[in-house]
Parts: sequence; structure tokens; C-alpha cells
Amino acid sequence: KPIVLSGCQPSGELTIGNYLGALKQWVNMQPTHECYYMLVDQHAITVRPKAADLRNATLDGLALYLACGVDPEQSTIFIQSHVPEHAQLSWVLNCYTQMGELNRMTQYKDKSQKSEANMNSGLFTYPVLMAADILLYGADTVPVGDDQKQHLELARDIATRFNNIYGDIFTVPDPFIPQHGARVMSLLEPSKKMSKSDTNPGNFIGLLEDPKKISKKIKRAVTDSDEQARIYYNIEEKPGVSNLLSLLSCATGKTVADLVPEYEDKMYGHLKGDVADAVVAMLEPIQTKFHEYRADQNFLEQVMRSGAQKASQKASPILTSVYDAVGFIPRP
Ligand code: AQP
Repeated sequence: KPIVLSGCQPSGELTIGNYLGALKQWVNMQPTHECYYMLVDQHAITVRPKAADLRNATLDGLALYLACGVDPEQSTIFIQSHVPEHAQLSWVLNCYTQMGELNRMTQYKDKSQKSEANMNSGLFTYPVLMAADILLYGADTVPVGDDQKQHLELARDIATRFNNIYGDIFTVPDPFIPQHGARVMSLLEPSKKMSKSDTNPGNFIGLLEDPKKISKKIKRAVTDSDEQARIYYNIEEKPGVSNLLSLLSCATGKTVADLVPEYEDKMYGHLKGDVADAVVAMLEPIQTKFHEYRADQNFLEQVMRSGAQKASQKASPILTSVYDAVGFIPRP
């Protein structure tokens, strides 16, 4: 089976963007792939969250993975900091990554503009840790929202560079960009992607939000002001309406082409009402299961323990080959 690896940062409550762009795709890949899904808590400390917040977000994230259908029997689910090989490989790869390459990363540029007060080098070398995450498991494919494409490209470059020097140690991973839900946009600023760490909570919908609050947020979503308030799909002309249509499509399983005629004579308010109902219905079973898992500390610990063990088993031979290749003497 091809190997797939992916993860979310516990940098806040996971959003419907994370669900539709990542988690839902992960679940679909379980029968056909050998799956490694992690919570990347080491990435999350680049913005220096409060310790208690990080702990909570990590456990919430784990319970949400399970609630969304990521199955610990079929997939290896783990916490990044429980598998020390990630940090170990990351250091080696830092020495095979050029400053210029990291300087070109658009996410770093965006994030450093937003947080000038905390420009730590972890933000800068974030893509190297991400490359280590991927290469440690010999992943063939990495499902990513198109915002992460550039980081994956860098992981490919680092792997190829290393292989050219030392032989075929790493598998060079391919991106997998899902067709639907590839990019869920912000509700109030539909030209930028929905993000869990957005400072304006009106922009995102968290997977654990109260249904009434979700409906309110969707009803306040920005629509597009043209002369006739027509409902059709065109990302350039109608970014807000198109985002709502694509959300409705993801939540109902109907195609956008099938949905558009249903709204021919309807108003924006109708569309918003339907989107709100569909999103709430999509999240209801997830929220119920989340609360069950989150209350079962023993089960969560068991999942983390066996996940970390399986992940280390897979990662450690690759790290050993890397250490051997660069000339580290094995610990006697
Ligand atoms: N809006 C989105 N639409 C589709 N997919 C998305 N993903 C994130 N936002 C959207 C996908 O979710 C996975 C996990 O992302 P992450 O948590 O590692 O970091 P991110 O991409 O930076 O996500 P956020 O929510 O925007 O986090 P913050 O605000 O902390 O930076 C990835 O596969 C991502 O593509």
C-alpha cells in the first residue's frame, strides 16, 4: 500500500477548513493507504502558545481526529513530540537546506509580517521540520491544501539533494490535492483561506462550535454586491457566494453544478440558511463523538501510546540510515 502522512497543528480549535481540506480526505484514504496522521505540537510552539492551551488543543485535536473517523486500528495516530526522530532528523536536514530556499517560503513571509514581535528561527525553519515529518515515514503521498504545496516542494528538493549525495535513502513524496474542499475561504474575507488562528473569530467555524453560533456566523458571511444579487459560482466575481456554494457542496455531497440551478430565483438569505443547516448537520455527529472520546482519558492515552510506538518503529530505521550516511558513529 502507498504510504500517506499528514497532520494538523494544535494551534487552536480545528476548523471546517481543516476538516474538509484534510481530515475528511484522510479518512477516505484509510482503506487504500498505510496512513500516518499526527498532531504537530512541535510546529505549534513557533507562535509560543500558553502551555495549558497547547495541551488542551492537542487533546482536543486527538479526540477530533477520532470523532471525524480517523481510526486507530487502520491508521497510526500520534503526537509529534512523542516521536523524537522528528526533531533528530530535522537537525540533519537543516544542514542540507539553504537559507535562500527558506527565505522564499510565502507562509514564513506572511507569518513574520503578522508577528514581528516574535520572529524566532523556528518559524523560519518550520518547513525543514515538516520535511523531516514526511521523509521519516517514506511517505509516497502527502494530502495538502494548496497553501502547503510550496513546503512540500521544498521537502522534495531536500530529499533529492540528500539522495544525490548519499544514495536512495528518502522516498521523494508527491502532493495529493483534493478536488473538493481544497480551500475553504474566510467568511468575512473570502479572498483569504479560513484559518484557526485568525484573530477575527467571525472568519472561521470551529468544529466544536455551538450550532446557533455557527448559523449566526454563516448568516453574517460576506456576500458579493453586484447589481442583481444572483447566485452563481465564480471565484473572481463572487468570492463570498462561491465559498458558500462550495461549502454547501462539501456538506451535502451535491455538486456545485447541481446546486446552482436550485438557487436561480432565490436570495442570498436562502443560500445562507441552507449552508448553515448543512454545516450544522455535518458537525452534529462529530461533536457528539468528540465529547465521548474527550471524556475517555484512558482511551486517548492508549491511542497515543500505541501510535507513538508504531510511528517510532517506522521512523527509526530511516533515521539510522541517515545518521550512518552522514557519518555519525552508532551509539554502542
Ligand atoms: N481553509 C482551509 N481549507 C482547506 N484546507 C485547509 N487546511 C488548513 N486550512 C484549510 C489544511 O489542514 C491541514 C492542517 O493544517 P495545519 O493545522 O497544519 O496548518 P495550517 O494549514 O496553517 O492551518 P490553519 O488552520 O490556517 O492553521 P494556523 O491558523 O495555525 O496557521 C493542512 O493539510 C492544511 O492544508
